[in-house]
Order: sequence, then structure tokens, then C-alpha cells
Amino acid sequence: AIERTISIIKPDAVAKNVIGEIYSRFEKAGLTVVASKMKQLSQADAEGFYAVHKERPFFNDLVSFMTSGPVMIQVLEGENAVLKNRELMGATNPSEADAGTIRADFAQSIDENAVHGSDSLENANIETEYFFAKEELCPRLR
Ligand code: CMP
Repeated sequence: AIERTISIIKPDAVAKNVIGEIYSRFEKAGLTVVASKMKQLSQADAEGFYAVHKERPFFNDLVSFMTSGPVMIQVLEGENAVLKNRELMGATNPSEADAGTIRADFAQSIDENAVHGSDSLENANIETEYFFAKEELCPRLR
């Protein structure tokens, strides 16, 4: 089925100037960018986005990393988009990510791991509403 998912290019990858290379991977895999914004997340933005991880030991480091520089946030649309994006990203820990994945190629560590992607369709919808108003989504014309 055609799905939508959230992708975030994190501050490490934005700083490396690889937004275009990452977008190219989405497009080559058949995913279309239907909304995007660059944003400097506030502490409240990052804490709210990652609220499910509030009790985890890495939460404070995660919030401080995600607010350390601008991120690029996009909604990707396409067949099986949630899983497809997760396959393109590779494992959360780049040292475990398959060769040729975004994290294997661009990430340093489990903390600075280049990209975020929604882990389910349900969370994709929640995360999309967190960052985008309905009018900001531009469905693909074919
Ligand atoms: P992300 O998909 O953005 O969701 C939460 C982030 O927390 C995750 O990517 C990692 O960058 C970071 N993180 C740090 N340590 C861990 C861990 N032990 N397990 C999961 N995520 C972690």
C-alpha cells in the first residue's frame, strides 16, 4: 500500500552536507518527498518528539544532540514507505548497519546516526502531525 513516513536528517549529516545524497537514495528507492522543512529544533521540540524515550538513559544526550544544529525533516510517500525507509537507513547502531545503507555510509555512532525514520505507520502519522500542518503536505502528482 502507498504509505507516508517521517524522515529526519540529523545535525551530523546536515553538517556533513549530504542532504542531497540522502534525498537521492529516497528517490532512487521510489520514495517521493511530499513535504520538507529545515529547522533548528528547540529543547521542547526535541523532548516532545522523543517523549517515548524520556525514561531511557540516553534521553538527555539525544535531546542535546538533536538541538546541536539544524535538522532536515521530510515526509516520504511511496509503496511500503515505512519499511522501505528503515531498510535504506540500516540498523540504529551504524556499526551493525548493512553496507550501502545511509547509516553505514554517513553515521559515526549510535548517538550521531545521521537519520531518524518512523518505526510504524501509527508513529509515522503521529510524527507527521508533530512537525507538519495538513496544508504543508503536497501529494505526488503522477
Ligand atoms: P532514532 O531513530 O532517532 O530514535 C532514538 C535515538 O536514540 C536513536 O535513533 C539513536 O540515535 C539514539 N540512541 C542512543 N542510544 C540508543 C540505544 N541504546 N537504543 C536506541 N537508540 C539509541
